[in-house]
Amino acid sequence: MSFQTPLLSLIKSRRSTRTFLEKPVERDKILTCIEAARYAPSAENLQLWRFLVLDDADLIQKFGAQAFSGIYRPTRWALKAPVLIAMTAKVDILVNRLGRLVQGTAFYLLDMGIAGEHFVLEAHELGLGTCWIGWFNRRKARRFFKLPLNYRVVALLAMGYPSKLPSKSRKLVALNKIVHFNFEQSE
Ligand SMILES: Cc1cc2nc3c(=O)[nH]c(=O)nc-3n(C[C@H](O)[C@H](O)[C@H](O)COP(=O)(O)O)c2cc1C
Repeated sequence: MSFQTPLLSLIKSRRSTRTFLEKPVERDKILTCIEAARYAPSAENLQLWRFLVLDDADLIQKFGAQAFSGIYRPTRWALKAPVLIAMTAKVDILVNRLGRLVQGTAFYLLDMGIAGEHFVLEAHELGLGTCWIGWFNRRKARRFFKLPLNYRVVALLAMGYPSKLPSKSRKLVALNKIVHFNFEQSE
C-alpha cells in the first residue's frame, strides 16, 4: 500500500484515552466534534443522533454513580474524564423498524457508529483524547437523562486532554488477512 494521506495518518495515530488532564475542554471544541458527527451519512438521512454532553464534574459523578454501578464498575475510570457524552438515538422511526424486520440490520446502530467515529477523529485532530464506552448501564443512563423509552443511549464517549502518551503496541490484523479481491485467497 503506497498512499499515506493526512486522513490515514490521523486515523493511524488515534488511540483510546482513559486518563485525562484535569483541564476543561473548550465548548467550541466539543461543538466542532459534534459538527463533524453531524456530517456523517445515515440510513435514509434520518440523522437520529442526539449528543447529550456532560462537562460538569458533579453531574459526571452523579451519572457514573448510576451508569457505572454493579457489573459496570470497571468503567469507573471514566468518572475522571472532563467530558462525557451520551450518544443517543431516537429509535422508533419506521425505516429502522423495517430494516430490522426485513433485513435484521439495526441501521441506527450503524449510523451512530459512523457519527461517533467522525466525532472521535475530529477530537483527535484537535489534540483531544477519547474512548468509546459500551460497558455501562443503558437503562440507568436513559433514566438519568429523563429520556422516554424510544430514546436509546447507544454508547458513551469519554473525552479530555490525554495525561500520557498512548502505549505503542496494538495488535492489528494484517491488511492481506482482511481483504479479498475477486475471490482470491489471501497469502
Ligand atoms: C463500540 C465500542 C465499545 C467500547 N467499549 C469500551 C468500554 O466499555 N470500556 C473501555 O475501556 N474501552 C472500550 N472501547 C475501546 C476499545 O477497547 C478500543 O477501541 C480497542 O481496544 C482498540 O484500541 P484503540 O482504540 O486504542 O485503537 C470500546 C470501543 C468500541 C468501538
